[in-house]
Amino acid sequence: MTEPTVHDLSPTAQEFLSAVRAGLTSSPKTLPCKFLYDETGAILFEAICTLDSYYPTRTEQLILDRFSPEMARAIGPRARVVEPGAGSLTKVKTLLGAMEDPAEYVPIDIAMEQLDDAATNLAREFPGVLVKPVCADFTKPMDLPEKGDSVERTVVFYPGSTIGNFEPEAAIGFLERMRRLAGDDGHVLLGVDLAKDQETLRDAYDDPAGVTAAFNKNLLSHINRELGADFDVREFQHRVRFETDPNRVVLSLISKSDQTVRLDGEAIEFRAGEEVVTEYSHKPTIADFTKIAAAADLEVLQSWTDDNDWFSVHLLKSR
Ligand code: TRP
Repeated sequence: MTEPTVHDLSPTAQEFLSAVRAGLTSSPKTLPCKFLYDETGAILFEAICTLDSYYPTRTEQLILDRFSPEMARAIGPRARVVEPGAGSLTKVKTLLGAMEDPAEYVPIDIAMEQLDDAATNLAREFPGVLVKPVCADFTKPMDLPEKGDSVERTVVFYPGSTIGNFEPEAAIGFLERMRRLAGDDGHVLLGVDLAKDQETLRDAYDDPAGVTAAFNKNLLSHINRELGADFDVREFQHRVRFETDPNRVVLSLISKSDQTVRLDGEAIEFRAGEEVVTEYSHKPTIADFTKIAAAADLEVLQSWTDDNDWFSVHLLKSR
């Protein structure tokens, strides 16, 4: 077996800089959540996924453990699995293990080191699957590696409720692209976290050990390291708040004081108490989600949930 080599389409420092500058000069200020995932961020996020209070990872894994044979039957033999934002490649192993003769696996992720290591390990574990990793910002259109002749259909696997990190309009646009990628005979298999009580959400996004706070603040350290900015990370505080319509968790960093940060020769002012939004995490009901899927011309074929209805996995097809 040849070891997979990562196809590198990762954002340049220039693209990173212009995205950060655009976010920090808009009002209210925002920062792009994809830049949470540098090497340190990827490690911190894996730590979050093992916290008792972070229910999404284990709940979705439970659904996959229980229902992957049904999912695999619906997907069919000799499929190519494309996974945007693939992370540690843990969940896909459950799916690949249940599938009949999976042909190819294309993990796409922005965190190069994690992707490289995880792809090598996965290829060893599934010697029959051709692994073609791509390091890229999956939210942007890109050319995927050519698919082999043995591939009969494509399934876009998008677990982790990452779809919830897009604002509703962008989520529809992204799902439309995934529908086209899957083609008429393919599927989209999507994990969606659901609406629930605020206490459970607060514990998940603001754990007492402070791992989530460290993860969120690492975004500033990443900007310092990559772009030579001078954020004083201690002068910002992790905050979680809730919004309705759409129902979502808003993750942000709050400036503790009036301060000035230098970014590429530009001075950026922060007022005490000012919020920089780093991520939205939407928590729709199944009915809300079905509307979003329909707006992207996707039909929900089957849905699976856990016993508490905390998380859901949906099999979608072009309408
Ligand atoms: N995509 C994850 C989620 O919405 C990411 C996440 C978990 C996150 N905790 C966070 C992002 C804290 C920013 C800050 O669940």
